[in-house]
Amino acid sequence: MPKRRAFGSVAGRIALVHALAHIELNAIDLGWDLVVRFSAEDLPRAFFDDWVGVAAEEAHHFELLAGRLTDFGAGYGDLPAHDGLWQAAAATADDLLARLAVVPLVLEARGLDVTPEMAVRLERAGDPRSAAILRQIYCDEIHHVAVGLRWFEHLCRIRGFVPEVVFHERVRRCFKGDLKPPFNHEARAAAGFPARYYEPLAGSAPS
Ligand SMILES: [Fe+2]
Ligand SMILES: [Fe+2]
Repeated sequence: MPKRRAFGSVAGRIALVHALAHIELNAIDLGWDLVVRFSAEDLPRAFFDDWVGVAAEEAHHFELLAGRLTDFGAGYGDLPAHDGLWQAAAATADDLLARLAVVPLVLEARGLDVTPEMAVRLERAGDPRSAAILRQIYCDEIHHVAVGLRWFEHLCRIRGFVPEVVFHERVRRCFKGDLKPPFNHEARAAAGFPARYYEPLAGSAPS
């Protein structure tokens, strides 16, 4: 993957918005993958309704970002993109607890940590429109983390597991590396996601 350029240039902003659009496109697929792949499990209707709702919001996020690329005279597909999210899906394809631990509770929660700073940098670079899109996505993603935690804890409860213990075990097994501080404790708390889940998995803060 080429390194992203600074947000000050249009090319840099296209690279950022393209990378985020790619994440959202994968997130649509991941929402539907949760609905279909795990349909044989004993899950209530509300589980499927929640993830269909998440997938619909991810589609809206993709549209917002793809529209912004059009504003810049670019389009989704113009640049190469990584497949990290899809690798996470493959690594957790046979274990719903692992999928919920890694996708909403590690990767989407990570989005909460980094998005506010990105929005500020875009605004400083004179692009309030892209910043506003990121802030809307950020609000929705708090809800996605909450939905992930709700179903993770539901499954642990009916299986008689201690949620934090299972979370630590699944993340260590299925996610490469430590979680990266600093964490956005405020947004994570707004999602109902307590620090006792993620702090024990943290690597050291970058200097
Ligand atoms: Fe999203
Ligand atoms: Fe999401």
